[in-house]
Parts: sequence; C-alpha cells; structure tokens
Amino acid sequence: MPYPFEVSGSGFPVVLLHAFPLSSSMWRANSESITDAGFRVVAPDFPGFGRNTSFSHVTSMDEMATGVRETIASLGIGRAVFVGLSMGGYVLLRILERAPSMIAGIVLADTTAASDTAEKTEARKDLVKRVSSGGSSVLAAEMLPNLLSAATYAENPRLVEELSAEISGCDPGAACAALRGMAERPDSRFLLGGIGVPVLLLFGKDDKVTNLDAAAEMANSIPGSTLSVLERAGHYSNLERPSEFDHHLISFLNSLRLNN
Ligand code: MLT
Repeated sequence: MPYPFEVSGSGFPVVLLHAFPLSSSMWRANSESITDAGFRVVAPDFPGFGRNTSFSHVTSMDEMATGVRETIASLGIGRAVFVGLSMGGYVLLRILERAPSMIAGIVLADTTAASDTAEKTEARKDLVKRVSSGGSSVLAAEMLPNLLSAATYAENPRLVEELSAEISGCDPGAACAALRGMAERPDSRFLLGGIGVPVLLLFGKDDKVTNLDAAAEMANSIPGSTLSVLERAGHYSNLERPSEFDHHLISFLNSLRLNN
C-alpha cells in the first residue's frame, strides 16, 4: 500500500527517504532548495512515523522498500533519484536489489550497506525492551548525544530541542518495530560493485552512528562514486548543515543526465 507522502515542485523526481525515528519532515530544511533547483521532491513517511499511522510488530527494510515503490508508482513515477539517510539508506539499498530500473541516481547519506554486528543487534534488543517500558523519551535521551555533532550542540540549541521533542513524541511501538527491522536487515554490500548509476556518498564528519570508515568502504566498493564530507555535521547531516548538504546534493543532481 502507498505510504502518505509530501510532494512539491516539478521536474525529474527526487525521492527522499527519512532516518529513524523521524519522518518526511526531516527534509523540511532541504526540500525548497531542491525544488528551486528544478526537481520534484517526494518524501514518504515510513510505517508509524509522520502521517503514516499503520505498522506491525516488525517493519522490515524490504517492506519499506515495497511501500516506497508503491508510493511513487501511485504518482505515476517510473524512475527517480533516491536519497536515503541512515535508515532511509538501508531502505534504498533494498530498492536497489529489487527494482534497480527505478533508480536514476543514488545518494547514500550517513548510512552503511553492512548489516548489524552481533553487538549492535543485542543493543537494539535491549533498546526495544527499554522503549517498550519507558516510552520514546528513552530514545531521545539515549540517541541524541550520538546523533548530533558538538558544533550543532554548541551553535544550534533550537535544532537540538526540536529533535528531542520529535524523537520523544514518536510512537514507541513504531520505533520498536523499526528497530527490530533494522536488526534483521540483510547485508547489502554485495550490491555495491554492480551499481550502474551515479552515486554520491554524503557524510557528516562527526557522525558517530555510521562513520567515515563505512563511507570509505562504500566509496571503495562503488565504481565511480563520489564521497563528500560535511564539516561540523554529525549523523543528521542534512539538518545540521542544510546549505552544505543541499549544495552537494544539487550539484550531483545537476550532473546527471535526467529525462523521464
Ligand atoms: C537512523 O538514523 O536512521 C538510525 O540511527 C539508523 C540505525 O540505528 O542504524
């Protein structure tokens, strides 16, 4: 079933896939620049987030990939550039496996193609238990210090507050379902060497969730990919350094030969 989505602008479609545990609204700082540059932005809400109120016990990355494909098909879109940040990147790599012909270009931001380590899987199970009993404020307290750079904490208290409210306000059941889905996601690294479309890797230099090692590994594996690193940005690089993020993204979009 198609997911609720935000859509704006006209031109070649650019599909923005959000991070955990946010929603399509995480692209609020970027959409206008992308549409002003002559592209149509589509940003779906994954199950349980934003305006998407429906979710089950586990939200797998493959289920979300199917939901995204159905969403853009419902708009009559056959091909698009896909931008996935963190969990959005995990979903994008599942779309790549299932429907490569839909993809005209790829932007992987602050994400990894690897599956979780055993240690990370255990940490997610533990987090699910604590969010189930303590609610989503547990997520905000635990995740936020790792998500944002020291520069963002020092210079942008408003963003810290907004994100804290957003994460604390997410549906704990949806968050647990997505945590379970991320924990069981397959390793997508085998796909990287065969990518036949242009790829931009965009990473915050101070990202502590995924990091520059994951970025360098992907850059080495994907033929012809470009890695751009955003100074003073952490994991939510598009929100922390929107102008720099948009600059790299729009230069990439303009470099593609896009026609419907
Ligand atoms: C995200 O930002 O989507 C999450 O931090 C991803 C993860 O927990 O692996």
